[in-house]
Parts: sequence; C-alpha cells; structure tokens
Amino acid sequence: MGSSLSCCGNDKVDEATNITGGAGNNTWRIFTYKELHTATNGFSEDNKLGEGGFGSVYWGRTSDGLQIAVKKLKAMNSKAEMEFAVEVEVLGRVRHKNLLGLRGYCAGTDQRLIVYDYMPNLSLLSHLHGHLAGDVQLDWKKRMKIAIGSAEGLLYLHHEVTPHIIHRDIKASNVLLDSDFEPLVADFGFAKLIPEGVSHMTTRVKGTLGYLAPEYAMWGKVSESCDVYSFGILLLEIVTGRKPIEKLPGGVKRTVTEWAEPLITKGKFKDLADPKLRGNFDENQFKQSINVAALCVQSEPENRPTMKVVVSMLKGHDPRGKVMQTRIKSVKYKEELLELDQTSDGENDGGGLEESECGVFGPMEVQKMQDPYMRRGDGKKIGKKM
Ligand SMILES: Nc1ncnc2c1ncn2[C@@H]1O[C@H](COP(=O)(O)OP(=O)(O)OP(=O)(O)O)[C@@H](O)[C@H]1O
Ligand SMILES: [Mg+2]
Repeated sequence: MGSSLSCCGNDKVDEATNITGGAGNNTWRIFTYKELHTATNGFSEDNKLGEGGFGSVYWGRTSDGLQIAVKKLKAMNSKAEMEFAVEVEVLGRVRHKNLLGLRGYCAGTDQRLIVYDYMPNLSLLSHLHGHLAGDVQLDWKKRMKIAIGSAEGLLYLHHEVTPHIIHRDIKASNVLLDSDFEPLVADFGFAKLIPEGVSHMTTRVKGTLGYLAPEYAMWGKVSESCDVYSFGILLLEIVTGRKPIEKLPGGVKRTVTEWAEPLITKGKFKDLADPKLRGNFDENQFKQSINVAALCVQSEPENRPTMKVVVSMLKGHDPRGKVMQTRIKSVKYKEELLELDQTSDGENDGGGLEESECGVFGPMEVQKMQDPYMRRGDGKKIGKKM
C-alpha cells in the first residue's frame, strides 16, 4: 500500500505487521477479512455503531476477547483509498493517550478495513446532540477533561510528532470517549503531514462545514491554525451544548459563533452555558473556556493561539500574561453552502466537504479578511501548493 501514499514516506506501515511502542498496549497487526467478518457477526446491522463519509463502523470482538471497532470502506475508489492510506500512515506514526491508535487493518484486493479499540462511551457528538444526550452524563468536570484532553492530542500532532501533522477534521464525532470519558481524537483520513520547514500549504478543501477556518475554506490555505479554529468551535460546542450550525424555525441556519457573539458582548455568560449543566459549572473555568474559544475562532490565523497556549490556558494559566476582553467576531457562510449542511437534523453530522475548490464563506460582513499568506509589504504569496 506504500505506493498509494502521496503525503510522504510510509516505511513504518510497510515494514511492520506488529509494532509495540509508547504508552499502553499499542500493538497493531494485519487482520484477515475472515477474522473481522467473524468478529463483527458478518458486519451485521446489529453490530453497526455508525456511518460516516468513509463507510460504516461496526462493533466486534476478536477471538482473544478484544473489543474492537471496525471501519469498513464503502466504496473502492482512489479518493477512498487515499483516505485509508493516509489514516493508516498517520496512525502508524502517532502514540498519545488522546489519539485513537491503530489496532490493525485489512487491505485485500477489494476491501479496506481499519481496526481500532472500541470506545465504550462512543463519540462526543452522541453525548452532546445524539442518542446519549438525554442521559446527561457530561457534567462540567467531564467536559473540561474532554476539552483539555482533545487539546493535548492536537498539541502532540502539531508540536511533538515529526513531521508535524494537521488533522483537518476536528469535530465532535471525531472525539471518542473511553470508559473514563478520556477523549481520543480519531479519524486521520484527511490529515496532512507537514514537511520540515514548511509553515503552511495550499490544498483542496476537505473537512466539515461549521468547523472550517475561513482562510482554509476560502483559499485552501492549511496550517496548524486551521485545527486551532476547529478546536475553538468544538470548545464552544462543549461548553454551550450548541451545534456548530443550527437550523432555526423557518429554516434559517445560524453558526454557533453568530449565536454566541451578542451574548459574549453583553457579558451574559450564564446564558451561554449549556442548560443541561443546570448552572453547575465553575464560572472562572467557563469564562476562560469562552475566552480561549474566542481566541481560536479569530478570522486572522496569525492571531490564533497555538495549541500549546490553548492547553496552558485551559489548565488555568495564561501564558500571554494579560487579561483579555472576550469577544467573538463571527464569519458568515454563503447561503448556498449552508443549504448543503445537514448537521441540524440528527446525530450524523454530515456536512462533510469532499473536494471543493470554492470558498465556503460569503463576503465578510463582520470582518474584512486579508489573505493571511500575503507577506506584509511585498505582496508575494508564500504558500506552497502540495
Ligand atoms: N473506535 C470507536 N469506538 C466506538 N465507536 C466508534 C469508534 N469509531 C467510530 N465510532 C462510531 O461510529 C460513528 C461513525 O464514525 P465515522 O468516523 O465513520 O463517521 P463520522 O465521524 O460521523 O463522520 P466522518 O466520516 O466525517 O468522520 C461515530 O460517530 C462513532 O459514534
Ligand atoms: Mg469520524
């Protein structure tokens, strides 16, 4: 499968069928189709955990008793194969307590399957807006744990692994929860490995409407700060319980930043908090979370904090050393793109943008966007098309 990878070398994937490393049990191996077929009861509907852009995910149990989640590619085309290859490539490189590691894969002539550890508390999406939302298991402490853990997973990808990795699809359905509600960031099929010395690249737009940074959505400019923007939206979602895009009566769609903006301006923090918390939250932590989210969703990528700063601030420190006045300035999606969004009606947060070369934001009403990759003064673009 190495030949199908375009992002960079894949020596690890080709060499190893069994790797042990890092913390915990990180061994992965190649599975046979028959093994996975048996483990998932023939990929039966009863075993189905959910469905995404890549295909369906099934619960299973291996012959040695391990509970697994098996993601089965729905169509064998070059785009899907690329996603599969990137996911396996990236997963083979990363080891972190907040990243969902690879348990194995199966790559036969006409199937592609990826095997992960089964996460008993499913996805953050299912708790915030899906079938587990009614159980109200997410108290404030858990929410903070999820926010900080997800941020730490991203920090590792951006700053600790070499080459650095940009996830490009940070969203609630891609944050899975283990039995202790420790978050594990999943789904690296859209990830980009950043060669050393490259600060950003220009790519086609992939990702999910509602979480996309404006410079990425408009110009395909991708850097770590795109993930920071998505994380800011995710953080707002965690503390407010609002969807990134919601449908209002009459069909009008509104982003979470548009909703939050006036409440933040008026200092109505209590109205921002998820009603499911019933007022049980740490007020300082809440304000700090809104503060961090506001910094992350700024339209100018260079003004967004790094994930190092985000983690530090969420843990109660402020490395910027000053008290910031929290403000969110929302940016607007084009109406026709909002039409494509399906996030509001169910657990499946759809809205996935496959390969779009168009910008997804309308003219900036609130803020004037400058091309962030234009060198000040000399007018030269420094982006690199990859
Ligand atoms: N390791 C796992 N453990 C438990 N449930 C999982 C696991 N992986 C995925 N799931 C469940 O399967 C669902 C589908 O996941 P999948 O990643 O295919 O789609 P998605 O995240 O909804 O969309 P996208 O394709 O855009 O990532 C998830 O929402 C999640 O609830
Ligand atoms: Mg997913």
